[in-house]
This record gives sequence, structure tokens and C-alpha cells, in this order.
Amino acid sequence: MTHEQLTAKFSELFQVSAQGIVSAPGRVNIIGEFTDYNDGFVLPCSLEFKTQVVYSLRDDNQVVVQSLHYPGEIEQFSVDTDIVTGNSQWGNYIRAVAFVLKRAGYNLQGVNLLIDSNVPQGSGLSSSAALEVAVGGMFNQVANLALTAEQIALFGQQAENDFMDCQCGIMDQLISAKGETGHALLIDCQSLETRAFSIPDDLSIVIVNSNYPRKLVDSEYNQRRIDCEQAAVKMEVKTLRAANMALLQSKKAVMSDNEYKRAHHVISENERVVKATAALQNNDMQALRALMTASHLSLKNDFEVTVPATDGLVNICQEALGERGAVRMTGGGFGGAIVCLCRSEDVDVIKQAVEEKYYQRFNLSADIYVCKAGSGLQTFKL
Ligand code: GLA
Repeated sequence: MTHEQLTAKFSELFQVSAQGIVSAPGRVNIIGEFTDYNDGFVLPCSLEFKTQVVYSLRDDNQVVVQSLHYPGEIEQFSVDTDIVTGNSQWGNYIRAVAFVLKRAGYNLQGVNLLIDSNVPQGSGLSSSAALEVAVGGMFNQVANLALTAEQIALFGQQAENDFMDCQCGIMDQLISAKGETGHALLIDCQSLETRAFSIPDDLSIVIVNSNYPRKLVDSEYNQRRIDCEQAAVKMEVKTLRAANMALLQSKKAVMSDNEYKRAHHVISENERVVKATAALQNNDMQALRALMTASHLSLKNDFEVTVPATDGLVNICQEALGERGAVRMTGGGFGGAIVCLCRSEDVDVIKQAVEEKYYQRFNLSADIYVCKAGSGLQTFKL
């Protein structure tokens, strides 16, 4: 929705005028999966799909929230008393952000909030990080907290880790807060340094959502993180970032099969991210294809986070594009989306192949998004 439409809707629902709008985007990860919580490298870009939060101040310390996606539902809590989990899942993301800011000692103010989002949900494009960063950006703005984009991202991650019970890394929140139009960001998840690389004009980013129903995602996700941490302990390094293949081989005998495989994925994936950044800079499709193919296979065989539907979609798209495109799964896995990099004239090749083969093989319909890298967190005062 446009700002005008959103502010009109806000006035209608809350009977007061909006005072500002904060927006934060979803993301697609080009390469570097499950490396973030191992202090490694990732190469995501922010999307034009975004979550917008319209706000006005209240004088009673209540946070009152409505969402255009859940008409009629009202989420309400006080910032004066302890913030605990409520009944609504979307509402809990707002509570989670307020909870971590309050815990850090910030004084929050009551607000009316209206939420709108066009980030596809449940497809691995980080709709929850977009909501957390937008809500964090809103509290930052209304309560003059003077937080940096990086701090807002870190609070978003804490909200997931400590309130939503998902032990995610920093990638999604950081790219949502700091993403740049037309660029991918190489993020060093150890130092949190970011470096923007422009996406070549003739490179199209096509996301294909498998629409495979995601189940047990959080518990499997958290288990992978534990496997990685145990692998680091066995190798006597702080995190897998400090490990290498020689060390891994030398410790193979003392590791469980899973610990070995998870570490093998992370160590090799970090190397691929660095190489892929150079390949992106050189607009080198052959190199991108080799790296993204290797990443997908590693996620399938070593990290074991793909499902037949996403493996199948990758095969369908890679087969159709041949040497002209690079394809792999993207995001948190167990369903979700795949990402294809190709030339604009080949976008239709993907659409046609998916239409002809995906439903027939998996009895699911895919959604296809041709994307551009959009802006990170933005705030507007009205
Ligand atoms: C999810 C998490 C991220 C990251 C990815 C996998 O999106 O939120 O922190 O671990 O999975 O790369």
C-alpha cells in the first residue's frame, strides 16, 4: 500500500492521525547458508517486498496493534508491566521486540500501530525479520533511542532468540536494517562489518517459492545450531569460522557423523561465499553456477535441510537454464524458496519450466517473484 492509503486506513481504524511510517524489507540470500551463527560470511540482498508500520503516540503506555492481514484482531499490551507471550503469533513478534528493548533498559512509549506487509510469509524470505526490524525502527524513532541500524538488527535477533525461541543468526535482521538498493551485502558475521556489492544490471534474481508446508522448522533449525557448536568444541575452536578442512579431517575420528557433516558444510560454504562475491563483481555466471550448485548439494547432503520439493525445483530450474543460470535453495530450509540468478531474457524459461513440471511432480503450485534489491530500513515522519 502507498503511504497515503496506509495513513487513511490508520485514521479510519484508530480515529487519530498517523505520525510516521517505518518500513523494513524481507531478504533473499544469494549464498552463505547457516554460516551466520557460526561467525561466518553471508551474501544476502534486501528485497522490494517490505513490512510497513504506521504509528501514532499514545499517552497511556499501551501498545495497540492492528494488522491489515488479520482484520478485526487487536493486539494490546502495556510497556509498564512485564511483557509476556500472548495468543497471537504475529502479535508476539511485536511483544518480543518491546521485551528486548525494555530488558536493555530503554523507556518505551505507548503507540498505536498499523502493520502492512507484502513479504511472502513462510517462504524463507524473512517476513519475521522485516517485522522485527520495522518495529525496532519504530520504537527507536518514537522514543528517540538513538540506536544504529546494527543495534536495531541485534535487538531483532535477540527477540527471536530470547522470546520467540528460534536460535537464528544475525543475517536476516542485519540485511533488513542495512540493505542497499541495487546491492548485495557481504556480511562478516563475526565483526558485523558489511560491504555492498552492486548487482550487475543484466542479472535477474528470480525467487521460486515451493509452497511446501514447513513443519518442525524451529526445532530442526535449533538442532543444527547445536550440532555446529558441538563440532566447534570437538575441534577446540571458538566457532566454526576458525576451523578449516585440514583441522576437520584431523578431528573426524572424535566427531559424530552429524557433527562432521554440519561442520563440513559450514567450512566449505564460507569459502564459497568469498568466491561468489568475486564472481558477482565480475558478473561471472559460470563461477556463480558452480558455487551455487555446490552450496545446494552441501545443504542437501551435509546440512540436510532441503526437502524433495526444493531439490526438485532446483533441478527443474537448473535443467531449464543450463549454463545460463545459477540455482540453489535459499534461507532457512525445510521447504521455502529457491533462488535463481539468470539473464533477463531467461526469466520466462524458468516460468515455463516450473509451470510445466513442478505441479506435475510434486502436486504443489509454486509462486515466482522476479526481484530487485530494495532499500533497507527507512523511516518517515508525517
Ligand atoms: C534463517 C535464519 C538466519 C540464517 C538462515 C540460514 O533465515 O534466520 O539467521 O541462519 O536461516 O542461512
